[in-house]
Amino acid sequence: YLPFSPLFPSLILCPSQDPLSQLPPPQNPKIRLYNAEQVLSWEPVFLSNDTRPVTYRVQYKYTASEWGDVSGVNCTKTTETWCNFTAASLSQGFPRHFNVSLRVQAELGERVSAWATVPWFQHYRNVTVGPPENIEVAPGDGSLIIRFSAPFDVDASMVTFQYYAHYWEKAGTQKARVKGPVKSNFILLDGLKPLRVYCLQVKAELVWPAQGIVRPGHLSNISCSETTTDAATELEQAILIFVGTFLSVVLPMGACFFLVLKYRGLVKYWFHSPPKIPLQIEEYLKDPAQPILEALDKDRSPKEDAWDSVSIVSLPEKEREDALQNT
Ligand SMILES: *[C@@H]1O[C@H](CO)[C@@H](O)[C@H](O)[C@H]1NC(C)=O
Ligand SMILES: *[C@@H]1O[C@H](CO)[C@@H](O)[C@H](O)[C@H]1NC(C)=O
Ligand SMILES: *[C@@H]1O[C@H](CO)[C@@H](O)[C@H](O)[C@H]1NC(C)=O
Ligand SMILES: *[C@@H]1O[C@H](CO)[C@@H](O)[C@H](O)[C@H]1NC(C)=O
Ligand SMILES: *[C@@H]1O[C@H](CO)[C@@H](O)[C@H](O)[C@H]1NC(C)=O
Repeated sequence: YLPFSPLFPSLILCPSQDPLSQLPPPQNPKIRLYNAEQVLSWEPVFLSNDTRPVTYRVQYKYTASEWGDVSGVNCTKTTETWCNFTAASLSQGFPRHFNVSLRVQAELGERVSAWATVPWFQHYRNVTVGPPENIEVAPGDGSLIIRFSAPFDVDASMVTFQYYAHYWEKAGTQKARVKGPVKSNFILLDGLKPLRVYCLQVKAELVWPAQGIVRPGHLSNISCSETTTDAATELEQAILIFVGTFLSVVLPMGACFFLVLKYRGLVKYWFHSPPKIPLQIEEYLKDPAQPILEALDKDRSPKEDAWDSVSIVSLPEKEREDALQNT
């Protein structure tokens, strides 16, 4: 890692005037500012009569400072034809509101080329804004809700994003309508026809109020979704309730059936316990001389003589039991 080439101070101060400087400078240096990315690239320098590899040195300068090597990236003696300032160890790159100038030169052995420079930039001023990320569309009753996240993280105290949705009916012939700008990370498209397919694209804009700058963004890929209706949601709910009820009835029934099958003997025992004779009747049967029947008859209307049949039915039962006990 060479901090600053100590071998050729004169070349660095006035490279183009030195006779040793026959090396052509890198061509077409470009800075790519896409979302959070800051990458400088250039075209390689080829020399037909020298097989040693050409290396490149990148330097930067802020408005009121001197040129210097960029720390944290390997761009002082690189054989690559690019320098990524947002690489891992310097993740954020140059501060995004700083006025940055960059230059690159080729080096081969003792020879250095002239500097090739790119125009100054401020990330927030010159950035190309990509489409919003993680776009999700939720269909609603004659509406669509689009949720998304910012194209990249920004310092919210300095700049903000605002969003637009372009949308149109897929089968229709009308031009796309635009909703926005909105500052939230969702857009509600309402007043749409139910059960129709709509296609949409969203885009973000970066706003830097202090500098009066608005950077337009790229539209997202087209995505299409169908709206729903109230009727459809009602039907859905009805089906859900039906299925729920059905299950809550059928499952216990099934369980009962299973249990009955398994414990058939026990169940029979419970349900077929011998009929009990009402206490008063039993008393009477033990001692028919008692005037209980008359007393009962007096209390009840003549129609209600269920007791008669009970006594008739239960009398043989009692006798049979007695007979069984006696054997
Ligand atoms: C290679 O060619 C260039 C001209 O194209 C010349 O200036 C330079 O001296 C040559 N270098 C060597 C090592 O021969
Ligand atoms: C950034 O710096 C360059 C010179 O280094 C200057 O010409 C330009 O006006 C500056 N831009 C802003 C916005 O200050
Ligand atoms: C620079 O390159 C050296 C060796 O080529 C490597 O060890 C080092 O991790 C690199 N640094 C960065 C920031 O890439
Ligand atoms: C950045 O934008 C300014 C104008 O806003 C322009 O003068 C400058 O050349 C741009 N820088 C780059 C690298 O495109
Ligand atoms: C958008 O579409 C292009 C080409 O169809 C594809 O390469 C790209 O990955 C898509 N982007 C997203 C975010 O899906």
